[in-house]
Amino acid sequence: MKQIIVAPSLLAADFRFLDRELKLLKTHNITYLHFDVMDGHFVPNLSFGLTLLDAISPHYDFVYDVHLMISNPEIYADEYIKKGADIVTFHYEVMENEQATHQLIKKIKSLGAKAGMSIKPGTDVEVLFPYLNELDLVLIMSVEPGFGGQSFMENSLEKISALARLKKMHNFRYLIEVDGGINSETGALVKKAGAEVLVAGSYLFNQQDMKQRIKKLRDE
Ligand code: DX5
Ligand code: ZN
Repeated sequence: MKQIIVAPSLLAADFRFLDRELKLLKTHNITYLHFDVMDGHFVPNLSFGLTLLDAISPHYDFVYDVHLMISNPEIYADEYIKKGADIVTFHYEVMENEQATHQLIKKIKSLGAKAGMSIKPGTDVEVLFPYLNELDLVLIMSVEPGFGGQSFMENSLEKISALARLKKMHNFRYLIEVDGGINSETGALVKKAGAEVLVAGSYLFNQQDMKQRIKKLRDE
């Protein structure tokens, strides 16, 4: 049976008690930490960036799953890798053309990180097809990027199934990740469709029963 990875979204953590929050995740055997970078330009919100990653990555052992919701990922990707990013995911929508996209994937990998690409809810999954054999991860957004706590959009399900089908057919190695509005119900739907990494923010943080919630997301 395939192991589901739960990647808590740091955006939803209580930042007054960040050390406590990160240690709590470790006690629940969390391995991936989803790190949402927003630039106030590609998305209508600002979050955190290099300084925070640099402050935490040497001290907490996670796979740092950096989701760049920024307009110029080609400028910043190497900085994020230097500060501890293990996976760098950028958005299809910000890339100028196919050549620049292939180049960025190559660059991320040559710097020793894993390369991921993401699409917004309104973007067709087909746009990712030219890159699938190079990617380590594909991130399907199931809400409009920019804010936690929104409702899951069902049109993500067919994108996930299409990626799962292609992965099987061609033996691709990318992980299929989904982000936005994940809870026990929507989590079951995306797992059924073929998602392997589930990002969850508001469903997990500041909840008494975080441990049970993680278990629900992990269970097939
Ligand atoms: C949204 C971010 C998500 C967000 C998910 O732009 O990419 O990672 O934190 O939050 P929830 O799980 O609350 O929808
Ligand atoms: Zn995210």
